[in-house]
This record gives sequence, C-alpha cells and structure tokens, in this order.
Amino acid sequence: MKVETPVHKNDVLTVRITDLTYAAQGVAKIEHYPLFIENALPGEEVEIKVTKVNKTYGFARVTKYIKVSEDRVAVAGREFTQTGIAPLQHLAYPAQLKFKQQQIENLYQKAHLDIPVAPTLGMQNPTGYRNKAQVPVRMVHGQLTTGFYKPHSHDLVPMENFFIQDPAIDHAIVVVRDILRQFNIEPYHEEKNSGVIRHIMVRRGYYSHETMIVLITKTKKLPHAKEIVTAIQNKLPEVVSIMHNVNLKATNVILGPHSTVLAGKSTIRDTLLGLQFDISAQSFYQVNPTQAERLYRTALDQLHLTGQETVIDAYSGIGTISLLLAREAKQVYGVEIVAQAVEDAKHNAKLNHIDNAQFTLGPAEDVIQKWKDDDLKVDALVVDPPRKGLAASFIDAVAYLKPQQMIYISCNPATLARDLVRLQEAGYTAKSTRPVDMFPQTQHVESVTVLERAEK
Ligand SMILES: C[S@@+](CC[C@H](N)C(=O)[O-])C[C@H]1O[C@@H](n2cnc3c(N)ncnc32)[C@H](O)[C@@H]1O
Repeated sequence: MKVETPVHKNDVLTVRITDLTYAAQGVAKIEHYPLFIENALPGEEVEIKVTKVNKTYGFARVTKYIKVSEDRVAVAGREFTQTGIAPLQHLAYPAQLKFKQQQIENLYQKAHLDIPVAPTLGMQNPTGYRNKAQVPVRMVHGQLTTGFYKPHSHDLVPMENFFIQDPAIDHAIVVVRDILRQFNIEPYHEEKNSGVIRHIMVRRGYYSHETMIVLITKTKKLPHAKEIVTAIQNKLPEVVSIMHNVNLKATNVILGPHSTVLAGKSTIRDTLLGLQFDISAQSFYQVNPTQAERLYRTALDQLHLTGQETVIDAYSGIGTISLLLAREAKQVYGVEIVAQAVEDAKHNAKLNHIDNAQFTLGPAEDVIQKWKDDDLKVDALVVDPPRKGLAASFIDAVAYLKPQQMIYISCNPATLARDLVRLQEAGYTAKSTRPVDMFPQTQHVESVTVLERAEK
C-alpha cells in the first residue's frame, strides 16, 4: 500500500527550522512530518528542495536562506562538514555549548528524570585540540593521498589541514605522506582489499610534545621500512616512537591486533593533572587533553575523598582516573577489558610511585561480580564506559555493593539517561549533570553526573 506523505520528492517549499537533531541536522515539520535538512539552524527561514521521502520522515537541502540565525558563523572550510569532521562548525561556539546542554535536558525529560543539567564547560579556543589522528591513505588521481572520507562513502577528500587536530599532527601527516610517496608505497585499495598502507596514526603529548607515528599496513611487511624510519626521524625531531601495525582484514576497524616497534619506544609519555602517563598505540586516551583535565577535576571534586575510602574505577583505560583517585583515597580498584591498557595502567602506577591502585583485566560486568562475591566494601564508584553504557548486570552488582557515592562519566547521553533510570530503581539519586565539551565543532556530548545512594 502506498503511504500518502505531505511532501514529495523535488517539492520546493519555504519552511522554518524548529530544531537541531543529535546529528546536527535542522528539522522542519510539515503537518507533523519531519524533514531533516543539512546546514540549517533553529530559527532560520529557508527555501528547500525535498531530496528523499520515507514513510515517516524525509530529507531536503537548502536552496535559499531567507532569514539567517544569529548563531550562524562563517565556516572554516566546507570539507570539514562534508567529511563529518566538524558538523557543528556553522554554529557559534556558545550556541554549541547550549545545544549540548539541551541534548541532555531533552533526553532526561523524555526519560522522566528530574536532574539539573549545568551549562557546558567549553574551551577558550575550540579548534586544533585533538592529540590523536587516524588518517586513511588512498590513491587519488594516481597519487598516494591522505584526507578523510565523506560519511557512508568510499570517497576520500584530500586534506592537509584537519581543523580540530593539533596543527603539529597535521604537519606530521603531510611529512609522512610525502615520505611514503618518495618510496612509492602502494596505498590500500578498499574494494580489492589490496595494496600496502591503510592508515597513518599520530599521537602527540600535549605537554611533552612526544610524538608517535603508527604505520598501519594491509601487508605483513612494510617495504623500505628502514629508509622510511630514517626519513621520518630526520624530518620530525619530536617523534620518539615509530610503530608498525598490521591489519590483514577487510574491515572498518583501523588497528589490527598487533603492533611492533620500528624505532624508539612503544609509548609516548604525557602529563595529566601532575601525573605522568605512558600511552601505547592501542590504548584509549582522551583526545582533548586540556578538557580531559577539567573533566577529571570536575569528577574528583564531587567525590570529597578524605583518604580513607575504597574506590572502584570501572572502564579504567590506562589508569588515568584510578591514579588521580589513588592520590585522594585509601585503595583503588580499576577494571578494563583491553590487555595493553591494563599493562599501561600497572606501569603508570609504578611510574608515579603509586602503590594503592590495583588493575584487573576483564569485562567490568564480570569482574564486579567477583568483587561482589568477595564482599568488597566499596565507598565510591566511578564509571566511564564506552558509548553503549553500562550492562544491566553491572548495575545489579552496584545495587549489591552499595557504594555511597557514584560518578558517571558518559560520552553518550542516550545510554546515560537509560542507565540513570536503572540506577534510580537500584536506589541511586542523580544530583546533577555537568557537560564538559571534549569535542568542539562536533555533535559529541560528554558529561559528569554525580549520584548518591538514598539509604546510608
Ligand atoms: C571512555 S574509555 C575511558 C577510559 C579511562 N577511564 C580514561 O578516562 O582514559 C572506556 C574504556 O572502557 C574500556 N571497555 C570497553 N568495554 C569494556 C568492558 N565491558 N569492561 C571493561 N572495560 C571496557 C575501553 O577499552 C576503554 O578503555
């Protein structure tokens, strides 16, 4: 049966934008039927052409701006929107911060959660902040090229300036690209799953400037490896680690399971709130170092630790939060699923002469069961899960362990809201949420939520 929609493909209409979606698209409603429109902001009046019509929603593109939002700013480059690197770049930064706060407020409202959301903590200069890049290498017009993909496509947009990355990282990518060209290294060919070099990854310490280059190949061998290494070392004096990672699979996942050292160390060292951290290629490390310090400080300040507490840090990565907690608590237990990250965490504890933090390898939802079986007395819990949030079984174990205080650091407000409802049922009241802008110019929303157990 054909469904009648209020608009049809190629219709030209004048509409008012009423909302901005999570994916930073403007929304206009025609008789309750939503149209999603790129590069359109709330309050704007635009002429549009309908490009696609589904049963319950459609898409359109702007053909003319009639009334422009006061929050619209000039974009740094069209390619940053095209590639999805900076989908919010057309929105003034204060409005981006407000948008992120509202994202959380709207989700709480839908979930019937009455939790105040504080204004988003933003950056002074919200560009050039990323300390890590993973850039695809492909053949474009017969030449090895670095850039970024248009979303859901195999079209690489050649780029040298990535706008939100540390400019020193952008420079390193161009230098490595030119060296790979010089040695005629064959770029990866996705459809044929052939060629040699797939990605260049760069990590750079914000304070230390120590830089790691990871060359990710489809082949077990990197031709001319020695000469490439020497050329990189000659041109990029801050490089202290050159790694080779092999990814044999036809997959979107960038890194393969094994990395080997081509030159220097297997880690870079950086500082965070006065502690030192060695970071491997494979380990998670927050990509916005100055905001990470504010995020962690916000979380720690809410716990009011006295030095007597036992604290769990679940999803502990290389031990950043655990080691910060260890300075203020009696004992910290970290749990993390990536083996290399746990190794890094143990090493980082030693590096900082911290002996009251222990790290366990495994899924947090399993390891917490063991702590429950051991009847561990826990005063406080910090969780910092990936986008999918907490497992229901993890929350059940929290209800059993009954830590008095809890901090939930979240990079996905949708799973945060879902988990806060479950935690409420388990006896925890969320006091407040503070968004911290870890990813300016993008739609990603990070936040810190403070919870307390109702009964003592
Ligand atoms: C958002 S990161 C946080 C890391 C760390 N807290 C930090 O601030 O650097 C999430 C971490 O959870 C880990 N992880 C993912 N699934 C997990 C699971 N089921 N159990 C334990 N750790 C997990 C990831 O490897 C990653 O290190």
